[in-house]
Order: sequence, then structure tokens, then C-alpha cells
Amino acid sequence: MLLLRRCSSLTRLCSINSHRHPVTPALASCAVRFFSSDREEQFRWSRRWTHAVAGLLAGSGAVLAYALKQHKAEKADAITGQSAATLPSSSLPIFSQEEVSRHRSLEDGVWVTYKGGVYDITEFVAMHPGGDKIMMAAGGSVEPFWALYAVHNQEHVLEMLSEYKASHLRAEDQRKQQSLNPSDPFSSDPERHPVLRINNLKPFNAETPPEILTESYITPSVLFFKRNHLPVPNVDPATYKLQIEINGPANSERGGGALSLSLDDLKNKFPKHTVTAVVQCAGNRRSDMHKAKPVKGLNWGIGAIGNATWSGAKLRDVLQAAGYSLDDSKWARHVQFEGLDQDVGGTTYGASIPLRKAISEDGDCLLAYEMNGEVLPADHGFPIRVIVPGTVGARNVKWLGKIIVSAEESNSHWQQNDYKGFSPSTDWDTVDYKSAPAIQELPIQSAITVPADGAVVDRSEEEVTVKGYAWSGGGREVVRVDVSIDGGNTWKIAQLKGSNDGGDGGTAPPPGQAWAWKLWELTVPLPEDTEKMEIVCKAVDSSYNMQPDTIMPIWNLRGVLSNAWHKVNVRIQGEEEDQ
Ligand code: MTE
Repeated sequence: MLLLRRCSSLTRLCSINSHRHPVTPALASCAVRFFSSDREEQFRWSRRWTHAVAGLLAGSGAVLAYALKQHKAEKADAITGQSAATLPSSSLPIFSQEEVSRHRSLEDGVWVTYKGGVYDITEFVAMHPGGDKIMMAAGGSVEPFWALYAVHNQEHVLEMLSEYKASHLRAEDQRKQQSLNPSDPFSSDPERHPVLRINNLKPFNAETPPEILTESYITPSVLFFKRNHLPVPNVDPATYKLQIEINGPANSERGGGALSLSLDDLKNKFPKHTVTAVVQCAGNRRSDMHKAKPVKGLNWGIGAIGNATWSGAKLRDVLQAAGYSLDDSKWARHVQFEGLDQDVGGTTYGASIPLRKAISEDGDCLLAYEMNGEVLPADHGFPIRVIVPGTVGARNVKWLGKIIVSAEESNSHWQQNDYKGFSPSTDWDTVDYKSAPAIQELPIQSAITVPADGAVVDRSEEEVTVKGYAWSGGGREVVRVDVSIDGGNTWKIAQLKGSNDGGDGGTAPPPGQAWAWKLWELTVPLPEDTEKMEIVCKAVDSSYNMQPDTIMPIWNLRGVLSNAWHKVNVRIQGEEEDQ
């Protein structure tokens, strides 16, 4: 790994001493050497680390953690002939909180505490220009930060930290710290329905179980998947204000336009529109990709998708009220959104969409205050979220605080360094997030919800009913779903149940505005010559886009855009077998 090679070359260059204080000059000179190397190289290196640290703190730091662990282990082996992790814990000194608090800089050393241990992470920080967030924990406990960023792979991060253990915290300081620890930032998260399949508790990420996903055309709000990167913010609807800015390019004649709207303004000053639209996470069906070859990310099954009615003001109406005019299309390219959910450093969730989508009459982008006819639930963005139909869930920003019309994309982590697709040949050593565009419209998708993978059907039933969902991004309508019960050798066409034929009793959407999913169903006789069925589905959209048959050609390191043919294996319990 390039990362590892970098780490070891750094070690060779700087020859860091394992006893913390005396190493500071060595670390400083190491940092100096790092900062004075070739500029382009330095930029790439610093960007790699910045991404890695952002990833760590935003919850996807397994790669970094792994690399650091390896590096640390290699270094310890080199210096002592023994891994740091194998040193007996009882031989470590005891420090007071006061002493720990004095270590808040590279010069003095950077110490943090975690569950009664004192960890010297000076070396970690020295290697991470741009990893400034970790410095917020310097001299104190790292626990509140990890509570906030406690997404996945935390065990890797803990493993990494264990390599940096330097001493114990005095017992009375440990007791004090426990009572001083700020409260759990997730403690005011709303209650959730116990049926949801939890992928991660803090922040809360859970999906609809497949067997109930297609029970109704409209996914009930409580059962709708929830994908939160941060704690759910507590927003007071009485004082809530949505800020809208039109940021003309620097030195242009266009002055900045700005508007601030209350929730009542949004409800009363603009016509209310209702759109039935799918929200699907880019990571939906990641578990299928992970099975083919491991990827990093929450292990979503087929339920990180739902279909709801959303009501609110049209985004284009609000932008026009803020002063957006046709003239602005000469310079403006993107509409950025900022959420009110934030990390401990005040960084908010953010994303952007192309201006064309935001401003188009047919784009149907909404500033939604209702979901399924009721007040938008806290988990889904109360009081306002943007609904960008046909576009990846990540751009449907919840708890919306600010909208900015700009020449630039959002510079948020989730727009720039996540939610992008890469070649199967790209790995964590070679990935360059700048090289790929942000995911916007999603590709064609379908999945089987019934029967479940591994289900057993009785031969006496004579037939099996297969059910599922199908949807495509960009407003492309699903025009056909093919189902096979023999692994893809022969196919039958499933019956589509969309908005115009029994789904919700509505009418067919205009071409290019098919934002909702189609549920589908097919009943077929059980095959007589086999006890095993591999049931497969694949959908076709109005542009004749079809799902790829296998996963590996679309495999990517983050496991996004997983839309290969969906397959479930079912066993037929035969009469002969019973005898
Ligand atoms: N908006 C904010 N402010 N914070 C978030 O964490 N998550 C995004 C998007 N909007 C997110 C957000 C992602 S990745 C997805 S898939 C959808 O919200 C999920 O929407 P849902 O939780 O309503 O299903």
C-alpha cells in the first residue's frame, strides 16, 4: 500500500523515538521535512491524509486505522523488537488530568484520554496535516468525539488507539471525568420503530425489512429507511429560518441576493406541491457488492429505499422569490444545501445539485414540510428537507438551514470525498476523489422482496409468487421487469403495479418525471425437475437502461451504485423428500 510505504519512509526519515517527550524535536523536524518537500507531492500527500482523517472522523476511517496500525506495529517492532500492544499495561506510569491537559500541541505533545488510559497521539497528529478536528480532543477525553462520530469500524479505530497507550489516568480524575463528560449527542434522537433493521445506532442508520418493503406502494414514514450521518438536530419550528443566498461570482456586477424565510412563510407564501418520489441511498444493496468482494461502508441490504409523498414549496419558486433570474444562469451552475445537523466542530452536512435540476419546472424539487400527508418526522428532516426527485438520497438534504446558488459545487465532505463511483481497478491506495463526479441521478434498480433469500416453499403449493420493487433515477420510468426462476436462463415478464395501474390509483407520470417506484409481481408454477430455484430480477427503464448481470464489473471500493441483477435462492420442499 502506498499509504504504508509513505508511513515507513516517514519513520525512516524521522526515526521517531517511542518515549514521548524527548521525541518532540524529532517530530518537529519530521514535520519540517514533510512541509518542505516537493510541492506537488506534498499536496497529494496532504490531500490523501486530509481525506483519510476526514474519513476517520466522519466514520469511515478503517483504511487509515489499518494503515496506522500497521505502521505503528512495524515501528514498534523495529525499535523494541516487540509490538507496543504486547507491553504489559501495569508497567505504564500514572498521570493526572492536569498533566494531560498540558499536552495540547505538537511542541508539548498531543495527549488524549479514553476510558482511563492516556494516549500520546503526537505522532499521529504530526503525520496528519489537515487533521485539525482531532486536536479539539487534545488534553482531554476523546470519548465525546467518538460518541459523535461513532459510525462503523470503530473497533479498528480503537485498535489503532491502543497502540498509542502511554499511561493511566489517575483514578480520581477518571471519576471526575465521567461526571464531566458532555452528554451523549444522540440522546435527543427520536424514538424509532423496533421493526427497522439497524445498521448503526449512533448515528442512526436503519432500513425497512424486505418482507414489508413492498407491502404498500407508499412506504409508511415510521418504516422508511433512515440514514443519518450526525445526531438529529432539535429545531424549534417557531424560530426556524431558512436562509437563501445567491452568490454572484467575485468581481461580477451581480450583487449578492439573500432571503430569510420562516416555516410559516414557506407554508403560506408559496403554492403547495405534492410529489410521490423515491429516496434511495447510494449504498442500497451494498451488502451484495460486499459479498462479491469487501467494500467499506454500512452493510445495507435491499431496504435503503422508500417511496413517499412529499409536500412543500417548489425550490424554483423560492429561488425566484430570492431574486434568481434567467440572467443568473450565465454564471450559476449549482445549488448548494446546508443541513442544521453538525459535528462537534460545527461542520454541517452539505451537498449540492446542478442548477438546471433545481430551477427546472419539470425537476419537481421541493422544500418539503410534509411526508405522507403529515408533518415531516424528525428523522426525515423536520421542519424542512429538500426533495430532489430522481437523485441520490445524499443530495436530499434534511434539516435544511441554508440554500446557496453558486458557480461552485458544495465543498462538503459528502459532495467532494464520498458518494462517488470508481472503477473496479481503483483501490484505497490509488483513489482520487477529485477525479470522479459526484453521484446525482441514480441508475436503474430492482430487487426481490418476496420470497426471502433462503426461503423454503412447499411443493404442494404448486406455484410461487415473486414480488419486488423497481425504480430508475432521473425520472426515467420503469417499463419492464423480467424475472427468472432458473438463474437467468429463461425469463418471464412481471406485472408492474405503478401509479397508473393499481399502485396508488393515480395517473401515469409525464415522460421524464417518473419519480416513484413500481412494485411488481409474478406468479409462476414451481418447476418439477428441481428442488432449488435461483430467482432473479432485472428491470428496464424508458431509456432502455438495464441492470448489469454481475457485480464485479461494477464493483467499487465504497460499494455504491450496487444494481446488478438481484438474486434469491429458494428451496422447494418436495413430497418425496418428506417421505
Ligand atoms: N441530510 C442531512 N442534513 N444529514 C444527513 O445525514 N443523509 C443523506 C440525506 N440527507 C443526510 C441528509 C443521505 S446519505 C440519505 S440516503 C438521505 O438523506 C436519507 O434520507 P432519509 O433518512 O429520510 O431516508
